[in-house]
Amino acid sequence: MEEEKEANPRHKTELLDHISQRIESLYSNEEIHLEEIPLVEFLDTICNEAISSMGERNLTIIRSFERGLTITMDREALRKVCLGLLKNAIENTPDEGKVEVISSSRDKAVLIDVRDYGVGITEDNQKMIFGGFFHTQDNDFYSSKRPYEFNAGGSGSDLLRAKSFSEQYGFEIDFESTRCPFIPHDTDRCSGRISSCCFIADKSQCFSSGGSTFSLTFPMKRSAYETSDRQEQDS
Ligand SMILES: Nc1ncnc2c1ncn2[C@@H]1O[C@H](COP(=O)(O)OP(=O)(O)O)[C@@H](O)[C@H]1O
Ligand SMILES: [Mg+2]
Repeated sequence: MEEEKEANPRHKTELLDHISQRIESLYSNEEIHLEEIPLVEFLDTICNEAISSMGERNLTIIRSFERGLTITMDREALRKVCLGLLKNAIENTPDEGKVEVISSSRDKAVLIDVRDYGVGITEDNQKMIFGGFFHTQDNDFYSSKRPYEFNAGGSGSDLLRAKSFSEQYGFEIDFESTRCPFIPHDTDRCSGRISSCCFIADKSQCFSSGGSTFSLTFPMKRSAYETSDRQEQDS
């Protein structure tokens, strides 16, 4: 927004100021309660919440949590970010597919990854997704969909909010994505169910054809790392 203001004539800066204020009111968290959050328990709750919200969707949510990790954050902000990423992963992965939620530590940092084996994001769209109010689905197509349904889309605000929180709370958000080569353009449709896909013979081919990983990186501030080990479970 600041860059746009510099590049635009004066009458436009007023409009941009107005939009900035609106975004700030949407995303700033006025009541910040920083607390130490144990990640296994926290991410378990997030996965359970997504599973109960996704209703009839037939997806495996794989949890792979390193034990003993905590991060210092506002719990509600972290919940919005993690649930937003998990919801996006679910909405962009066909039925019979899988999504992984992974917590780990590396080089004095704690990482939360949400990895899906879904449609992936085209290179053009990869440049746009954090810009806000952008979605890759046609308006007609997504407006009839409920949250967590395949190919549902919202207002294009989950990733903008995650980016805004990352600046506010001092963590990083990155992603990498490979678009499924059988549907290279964003107007190409995935059938939404692996067994209905006409390009592949089995699930493993779907899993190796496309997907996205969104990663959150938090500076580590804890001493219990020596005791950490991994806990893996499926649901
Ligand atoms: N894991 C993902 N796989 C494929 N596309 C994604 C993924 N996460 C986000 N996107 C796309 O990025 C766009 C912006 O995402 P987001 O800010 O969450 O908006 P929305 O409210 O539409 O979900 C959406 O069109 C969404 O489809
Ligand atoms: Mg979303």
